[in-house]
Formats: sequence, C-alpha cells, structure tokens
Amino acid sequence: MTIWNPELSQEGPRYRALAQAIERAINNGELPPGEKLPPQRRLADALGVTVGTVTRAYALVEQSGLVSAQVGSGTFVKARPTAEGFARVIGAPHEGLVDLGMSLPPPHPTRQATLGRFMSAMALEPAALEQAIDYPLDDSMTTHRQRYADWLTAQGLTVDADELLITQGGMNGIALAMSALLSPGDRLAAEALSYPGVISAARQQALKMVAVPFDEQGIDVAALAARHERTPFKALYVMPEHHNPTTVQLSPERREALVALARERDFWLIEDGVMHLPPEARGTPLYQLAPERTIFVFSVAKILGGGLRSGVVRSPAPLLERLHISLRNQCWAPPALIAGIAGRWLDSGEADRLLAWQFEELEARQAMVREALGEFDLSMRRGGFYAWLVLPAEHRAQALVETLEHSGVRVASAETFCVGSTAAPQAIRICLSAAPGREALAQALEIIVQALAQNAPPRWQTV
Ligand SMILES: Cc1ncc(COP(=O)(O)O)c(C=O)c1O
Repeated sequence: MTIWNPELSQEGPRYRALAQAIERAINNGELPPGEKLPPQRRLADALGVTVGTVTRAYALVEQSGLVSAQVGSGTFVKARPTAEGFARVIGAPHEGLVDLGMSLPPPHPTRQATLGRFMSAMALEPAALEQAIDYPLDDSMTTHRQRYADWLTAQGLTVDADELLITQGGMNGIALAMSALLSPGDRLAAEALSYPGVISAARQQALKMVAVPFDEQGIDVAALAARHERTPFKALYVMPEHHNPTTVQLSPERREALVALARERDFWLIEDGVMHLPPEARGTPLYQLAPERTIFVFSVAKILGGGLRSGVVRSPAPLLERLHISLRNQCWAPPALIAGIAGRWLDSGEADRLLAWQFEELEARQAMVREALGEFDLSMRRGGFYAWLVLPAEHRAQALVETLEHSGVRVASAETFCVGSTAAPQAIRICLSAAPGREALAQALEIIVQALAQNAPPRWQTV
C-alpha cells in the first residue's frame, strides 16, 4: 500500500518542513478530517528522515490544533467547522457600524416597492399561482428560463434557454456544478485568493483545492499548467470578469491560453459571472470560448437583491442531466414563485433601469473612494462593488481590520479569501456598495483614512 508521501521544502529543519507539508495538506483537503497520519516509522523510511524528525513534526502540528494523537491508535486530522470562511465575512452587525464587509448591491429607494408590485401582479394571475403552489416540473420552468435567456442575451451574454437550469442563486449554481463534476477527494483548482463560499463548499464536499497564482492579468496559465502536471485537477473555478476580492480581470490573451490548456488537459471550467459588470467593461466569457467544457454561473443577487435567491447556470448539453439530478437531490427544484418574480422583473425593463442607476451610483461611490484613498495601492473596476486596498508596508491587515471594527467600520481582510495554505497578502476588501448611503460611505472612508494615517502598532512586545 502506498502512503501519503509529501514533497518537503528544502529550507529550514526537516521536522518543520514536514509539519508545514502536513498543515498544507490539511488546509487544501488532501488530508481530510478523520484521516489517520501515516505510522511514524513508515513515513520516516519513505522520506529518508529519522523517526525523531517525524515525531517532532507531528507534535508541532498537534500544537497548532489541526490533529490529535490518540494513544495506541495513531494521529488523526481533526474535524473543522465547514463555514469558517463565511463566518469571518458575515460576523454579527452591531449598532452604528458601517458594514462594508458584504458584497451587497447599493440600496435603491424603490427596490422593495418594485418587488411588491411584481408580487401583487402575480397574486392576480391564477395560472401563476397554480404553478407556484404545485411541485415544479421541468417544463413549468420553460417561461422563466426563456426570460432569463432573453435578458442575458440582451446584456451580451448570449445563451439559449435550453442550455439553462434555474437555480437558487450563485452559491447554489456553484455547488451544483461542483457536485455534478466532482466526487469527494477530487481536486478543484482556483485562484490562490477566491470567493469564500467556494472554499467552504469545497471543504464540505471533501474536495482538495489547488491554489493557483494570479497577477494583474488574471490567473497565471503557465503556473496552472505546472500545477496540473503535479496535481491533476478535474475542474477550475474562476472569476474572469471581476475577481473576488482583488477586482482583477482576465486578459484576452490569458482567456485564449486558459481555454487552450483546458482542452489540452481536459479539465472543466466553472465560470463565476455573479458580479455583473456593464457589457462594455466585460471580455468574452469563457463559456463562449469553450462552450463544451464551461458551466457559467449567474445570479440576480447583485442586481435585484440577494434575498430572492434566484439565478441560472448555463451548461453544455451533455452535463445538463447531471446538474438536474444534483438539483433534484438537493431540493427537487427552486420555487417557481421566486423564478416567476425574478423572470418578470428581468423581462419588464425594470431590472435594466435599476442596473443603470446602480452603475451610476457605483461610479459616484468609486470616485469618493478614489478621492479618499487614491494615494494608496487601490484597485476598482467599473460596475464593481468593492475596492481592493494593498496596505502600506508597515500595516498588517488583521490589525487594521480590528482597529476599524472598533471604530465602527467593517471590512474584510485578505485572509478570508485564502485557498489552502496560501499566504495572505496585507490587503483589505472594502465593499463600497454596501454602505446604506453616500454619507455613511464618506464617514467610513474618513475612519479608514485616519486608521491608515496612524502609525502601525509597535511589535517589540514580543521577544
Ligand atoms: C463571486 C461570487 N460568486 C457567487 C456569489 C454567491 O451568489 P448568490 O448570493 O447568488 O448565492 C457571490 C456572493 O457574494 C460572489 O461574490
């Protein structure tokens, strides 16, 4: 029987290198919860080190709380809460706090009233009520799928209604794609910083995540090829238009290279299009470049509202049946009532008006952020909800996040987005869209500027 046999870094003492390799394997899911670490003597023989080195490494990992040693049985990977990434972003709001931690659409004064109008209209349509109350059958969703397809196509995201499956929003679409494409133990690649929902869902589905470096052009395709060589993965989750959290956009050349690599190595692409940008700010979607191997995930959460929980996935025809089965196994089908409201809203022209307002509002808010923080290393993209701020050398993200929270402003630190054992850059994500209004945003920005102007706390208390 082969045993888990990691590659050790050549730097520093052997026991430390082994402890780091174990921690990395636990964080990326290669050693899942409950897994027994190899017997010390066998691992020592496999690695060509002494048993004492393995004992010290195991003790070090135990100190960090990731494994527990059980006398007479061995050392086991401990279970960890699955939604840890989410919990760090969501937290509990407290009074007076300007919460710029969540990626929410800017509050529109009539959004609720518009929802009310569509609900009232449906209440007067007996056929819609009948459909809403009965178990939804596949063909009962045809009209809603068509509305989604028409709206997306008008937005330049050309799709055929037959390629769509209605979901309960973006997270549901991602989870469906994962369960249709991957089995426990399979590898899923992603940018080294990624959407926390994916990190959390991958952990729960016992997938191993492969972290891939990226730069200002997007995912590094040469590094992706090298990762695939060493640790072949079945699918890549990627945000080509607006990377969460850094706002990076995948360049046209990288899109071509990525698609060519996916074809050569035969892996799937899960393309997250939930952050919806104006058409002229977008590139060619991957599902148009490689329709046969791309699942495109869309949601109305960043346009109409996250509470609706509605969206679609666009999939190559041979995969649709598997996605359908995954959906059935989860919830049978999304509520036709909600799909009906979202579809009508998109179809009515109201969504376009809302979106036009939203893009203008975001532009004004981004100008405020530029004005306040323009001297720092700041990234934003047109139509995007957040700014990514790389901190000046002396600042530490976690300390700054805590200082800001005490001062009444919540932002997310880069740590929240790290895939596997990726080292977190000293950076924060500021969701400028989430402030209840421009005044609250101005207040929050002032507090951020003040916090950045303060000297970072001295670190000499530690010897
Ligand atoms: C990049 C990204 N993908 C997916 C989602 C999930 O979308 P939904 O709220 O529709 O589940 C989010 C939500 O913030 C997101 O930021």
